[in-house]
Amino acid sequence: MTALPSAVPAPTAPSALRIPVGVPGVPGVPGVPGVLGRCRALVRPALREAVGRMHPWMGEMAAYSFGWCEVGGTPAAAPGGKGVRQALAVLGAEAAGAPGRAGVPAAVAVELVHTFSLLHDDIMDGDAARRRRPTVWKAYGTGPAVLAGDALFALAVETLAAAPGGPRAVRVLSVALADLVRGQADDLLFAARPWRGPGRVRPAEYRAMAGHKTGALLGCAAALGAQLGGAAPPVADALDRAGRHLGIAFQVVDDVLGIWGDPAVTGKPVHGDLRERKKTYPVLAALDRDTRAARRLAAHLDTGEDLEEAAALVESAGGRSAAGTEARRHLAAVEAALADVPLEQGAADELRALLEYLVRRNL
Ligand code: IPE
Ligand code: MG
Ligand code: MG
Repeated sequence: MTALPSAVPAPTAPSALRIPVGVPGVPGVPGVPGVLGRCRALVRPALREAVGRMHPWMGEMAAYSFGWCEVGGTPAAAPGGKGVRQALAVLGAEAAGAPGRAGVPAAVAVELVHTFSLLHDDIMDGDAARRRRPTVWKAYGTGPAVLAGDALFALAVETLAAAPGGPRAVRVLSVALADLVRGQADDLLFAARPWRGPGRVRPAEYRAMAGHKTGALLGCAAALGAQLGGAAPPVADALDRAGRHLGIAFQVVDDVLGIWGDPAVTGKPVHGDLRERKKTYPVLAALDRDTRAARRLAAHLDTGEDLEEAAALVESAGGRSAAGTEARRHLAAVEAALADVPLEQGAADELRALLEYLVRRNL
């Protein structure tokens, strides 16, 4: 396949978008949790088999991350991730007209890479908890967690390389991984940038960062599934583009929740992102305007005082509504990308429902 786009351009006008509350109902399409469950069941045996080939200690850390066991290896059924990436790979294959199982090697590879990136990300971010459990580095130590991440990455490459069409698929995964690293690097660098003035982080820079950090792997998941399902390059490219826009929308919505979300739902402390002075989209959008509220907000962010007031200032400076607009624009770009190519109807409907659900459940 030709090189996939590594940067996501700003989408054009929002177009006619429905913004329903909750999961959009698509007649004849099973609910999104059902789709996620079906894909998880299809992928699980291959994922378990792959993890079973790891060094036992590394394998335990991987199984802990997937929520399959506790520290020490005792079986558990902790809530793992939603399995969005594996579902995108399976649906990508189905959208290309192949059976879902054709996308399974891609699904396994992207889940392994995702878990690898989270293990290292939690170390980079110094985060002690994920999904309401201690992070791997907290539970097992930093060195072991770094190594487990490396092991997961190696396993992902090995799994994909062994699939039919493997070498080409590995190249696509490598491009996505390089983009993910690019996004993570920018994310880390953003932390040292000022809130105001010429050195501030512009919303466009954030968009590129999120497209790389989160979107690259989501796009890669769907594109790889399609590729293994025999899709023509334009179809895989369109799915890649859709995933990248989804990543930006998802990240922006995540930021909105990080400031205004209910801690009982998000599992994160209220105003946590403001306390940690994260360069989130609502804050950046608010600060990009030279308003009185923006100037007062910058002062609040510097002192870290009165986060309630800071959140109110982000809102009155237009940051919250700008984030909503941004997320909707990227969701419209997702829809446009999917509409661009012929896809198998049923799978495409499930794909659309999944993509919309991921963003809209939080809007
Ligand atoms: C994680 O980004 C993205 C990757 C691992 C590539 P964040 O640091 O923003 O996300 P969470 O909040 O830890 O999941
Ligand atoms: Mg993190
Ligand atoms: Mg991070």
